[in-house]
Amino acid sequence: MERERWATRIGLILAMAGNAVGLGNFLRFPVQAAENGGGAFMVPYIVSLLLIGIPLMWVEWAIGRYGGSKGHGTTPAIFGLLWKNNLSKVVGVFGLWIPLVVIIYYLYIESWTLGFAIKFLLGLVPSVPANGTDPDTYLKPFREFLTAYVGTGEDIISPSLYAYGVFLITALINVWILSKGVSGGIERFAKIAMPTLFLLAVILVVRVFLIETEHGTALEGLNFLWKPDLSKLTDPGVWIAASGQIFFTLSLGFGAIITYASYIRRNQDITLSGLTAASLNETAEVVLGGSLAIPAAVAFFGVANAVAIAKSGAFNLGFISLPAIFANMPAGTFLGFLWFFLLFFAGLTSSLALMQPLIAFFEDEFGLSRKHSVLITAGIVFFSAHLVIFLNRSLDEMDFWAGTIGVVFFGLLELVIFMWLFGGSRAWEEINRGGIIKVPRFYYYIMRYITPLFLIILLGAWAFEYVPKVLSETHWTVWVTRFYIGGLFLFLTLLVFVAERRKPKEVVCE
Ligand code: PHE
Repeated sequence: MERERWATRIGLILAMAGNAVGLGNFLRFPVQAAENGGGAFMVPYIVSLLLIGIPLMWVEWAIGRYGGSKGHGTTPAIFGLLWKNNLSKVVGVFGLWIPLVVIIYYLYIESWTLGFAIKFLLGLVPSVPANGTDPDTYLKPFREFLTAYVGTGEDIISPSLYAYGVFLITALINVWILSKGVSGGIERFAKIAMPTLFLLAVILVVRVFLIETEHGTALEGLNFLWKPDLSKLTDPGVWIAASGQIFFTLSLGFGAIITYASYIRRNQDITLSGLTAASLNETAEVVLGGSLAIPAAVAFFGVANAVAIAKSGAFNLGFISLPAIFANMPAGTFLGFLWFFLLFFAGLTSSLALMQPLIAFFEDEFGLSRKHSVLITAGIVFFSAHLVIFLNRSLDEMDFWAGTIGVVFFGLLELVIFMWLFGGSRAWEEINRGGIIKVPRFYYYIMRYITPLFLIILLGAWAFEYVPKVLSETHWTVWVTRFYIGGLFLFLTLLVFVAERRKPKEVVCE
């Protein structure tokens, strides 16, 4: 069976940008930046972009295109081609496990954005007290709105029926697009969703820039973010947060870029296309994502309060503060609708990318039809999501192991396998083949030495700083989550070995 391909270069770039531009750009980035001192955050952020993000991005595009040329789109098989060692298969399982664990909670958050968008469109939202009150009373109605939606509970959460229903619909929308295929589904949707998303974001940024209250203006929020503060550069926590954000926002270390890249033709450019997609993501993140939630909160409540809101919960800036601020403006509920619709499109183009690795695995390694692969994958995700929906702390636990530390670990493995075990000069040739631009030579040394070293240091810092803290959490809901995602890893490993046995040994030329 002929492997699917992206139909056009612009389609490929938009699909890849859709992969990267997600909830991370508009929800995670502002929170990370605010929590880590604004201007203090942006310096390590840009350093991480140049020394981790861009090089790893090229490496993942090259690994994926290489695998695709041999009929494989996921890392268990691709690592096996790059590194002839039985261990490569097991290591490659991370490239299925990470996107699977992340999509389990990502899809649920994405569904909130749809649920909120519908409520705002219909005007079924609370009103806020008049301007000028303190943030606590001002935000209260929207805090209660969010709580009523997702539910509360010490151990077991009871979400609203509406939230559960919208989650089901969100899953079905994903299934519908994915079942139409890479080019017919993902690419076609990205061509509509990405321009829409940018347009919506620009409209909202303009509106935020016009905010002026007795507490301040949006400009002060931009100042907070963009005034470099070098005093915090020695704080490892800020570096860890900034590099973690680079991984998350560029979808690196997930295996998702690799799978998308496996649908690129062997001689088609990846150097310029990759850079273009990454640039679109960074524009969406620092220009647009950085000009919404933070500037609005600063203009309304001042810097200190804006930071406090960000610190009080990962979703508070996006799901409470910004909609509450909009609600107080003329046509405010409609602005709220635009905001959540923007988030929904951003989330949707990313959730497709998080599902595609497992789908590709079933197609490539088991020879299943696309329809069956999509249904099996979605079934696993939907079933697993009940953990996140109903168990308190489950979402955070999954985010930590897969979306925070797992990606750095896997990114390091990718670099070592490609740049060292496959071989530096072969890898360099692979990256540049068909390239419209040539990657500057110094990036060869960055990819081989600097980035791996950087990642090793980060993992070390993590292991000492955060892992003991996380492991000291022994609540039963946390343990259930750990066993469950550990079980998923074993399950995927088993599948990899079954796939291996049912296939005649491959003849690999070269
Ligand atoms: N980059 C996405 C975001 O910023 C997250 C993501 C990671 C999406 C990996 C797909 C694959 O939200």
